[in-house]
Amino acid sequence: MKAVILYDSKTSGGATEALIDSIGLSLAESGFYVEKAKCKARADYTFIKDFDLVILGAPVYNFIVASQLLGSLIQGNLKKCLKRKKIALFLTCGSSQPVAALFYLPQLKVHLMGNKILAEKILTVNAFPDGAVDSFVEDILLQYNKSPKSKVLSAKWTAEAQDLFQSLPSFVQGKFRTAAEEFAEEMGYKEITLEVLAEARDNRGGP
Ligand SMILES: Cc1cc2nc3c(=O)[nH]c(=O)nc-3n(C[C@H](O)[C@H](O)[C@H](O)COP(=O)(O)O)c2cc1C
Repeated sequence: MKAVILYDSKTSGGATEALIDSIGLSLAESGFYVEKAKCKARADYTFIKDFDLVILGAPVYNFIVASQLLGSLIQGNLKKCLKRKKIALFLTCGSSQPVAALFYLPQLKVHLMGNKILAEKILTVNAFPDGAVDSFVEDILLQYNKSPKSKVLSAKWTAEAQDLFQSLPSFVQGKFRTAAEEFAEEMGYKEITLEVLAEARDNRGGP
């Protein structure tokens, strides 16, 4: 299992980097191979295809999530490369949790609407509760281990989606069903509709 922590911070050895080291250590102790990479808005993020888990983390400066991470999502190819990736988010800031949840976290999440976010954490500087990093990593691992492949897939199909399925040649039906149900599971969809099938197709060129 491979995880990469993509982060931004203006402060070398600051709060964000300290958190990344703790998160990385905790993930490594749980069996992950971990790398970290500092964001540049115009960087090429195709390398994240090699990672099973992507953690995005940044501080807030002057009411805005640090610009190189945000810029990577808005101007760069990070958003595209994150498609279908399992991700987790954290922010460090001076504001309280409710303020950060309302004003800062959405600045990232608005660009990640199609992703399954395993866990998210706001870490308020000078007020880290004991075990905050450990509980964040525990949340990530709990969700990560709910792998669709380890479950009996049981999503409900709408009549229209079933009609489409039945219209396919029988030799592709098995692959199609598995791909569609895994996608629905990953995205947290309870039902497979024509829209879900179209989204699955757009996301991975199939089913
Ligand atoms: C110049 C500057 C501006 C900041 N602006 C905000 C802000 O608007 N909202 C907030 O909640 N925290 C703000 N903070 C607090 C930082 O988000 C917090 O200290 C963070 O942990 C800094 O991370 P770093 O040590 O990696 O730079 C600001 C800090 C600095 C230095």
